[in-house]
Amino acid sequence: MTQDELKRLVGQAAADYVNTHVPDGAVLGVGTGSTVNCFIDALAPHKSRFRGAVSSSVATTARLEQHGIRVFDLNEIESLPVYVDGADEIDASGAMIKGGGGALTREKIVASVSEVFVCIADRSKRVDVLGTFPLPIEVVPMARTAIGRQVMALSGVPVLRVRNDGSPYVTDNGNEIIDVKGLHIDDPRGLEALINAWPGVVTVGLFASRGADLCLLGSDQGVEMVSYDV
Ligand code: 5RP
Repeated sequence: MTQDELKRLVGQAAADYVNTHVPDGAVLGVGTGSTVNCFIDALAPHKSRFRGAVSSSVATTARLEQHGIRVFDLNEIESLPVYVDGADEIDASGAMIKGGGGALTREKIVASVSEVFVCIADRSKRVDVLGTFPLPIEVVPMARTAIGRQVMALSGVPVLRVRNDGSPYVTDNGNEIIDVKGLHIDDPRGLEALINAWPGVVTVGLFASRGADLCLLGSDQGVEMVSYDV
């Protein structure tokens, strides 16, 4: 199967999971990315079962609304039974690198109020050690260079994310992203806590202290459901 076919497969599996595990009238947390888009498309025929969704990005909001799915502000919602999102890498403990699509901050916020985090990914995202995929850090622009120095002290290589025209990529929150190459992350929770403490860091794309509860992992053999002990 191609990677796109695997994304559709796990998107459908996530819609099936939500349909069988989430009660009628619930509000769902929805992540961002091409795999999540497949989930949204697979969920759309069942939208009348749900009250709506809390979205993690402007792009996801647009896709949900195109399907006629109501989008709630997170401030209107106390808790979410489930949050469905993709990942750039996921390890054996359910810790992830996320933010390849730039939505890491809102993704982390929505995930934090969700009871169950369902990661949807194709088999290529499963790694033994996180760090081959560059680690995104959303930063307040004035702190970009100072944070770059901190990254280099960890032997990481900071690269400012840019748009096609060479200007800095700007997140939905008006910040910039540094992608850190060359890390071998054998303590994801420790590194998440360390980077979170640097002034000017909005969010680090390590999702380890609140990682996935389960992963729907797609491969040529089908979809495997992997659960993680918290
Ligand atoms: C966006 C993300 C995405 O979940 C991650 O980049 C995976 O995206 P895709 O499903 O397109 O491979 O973290 O910020």
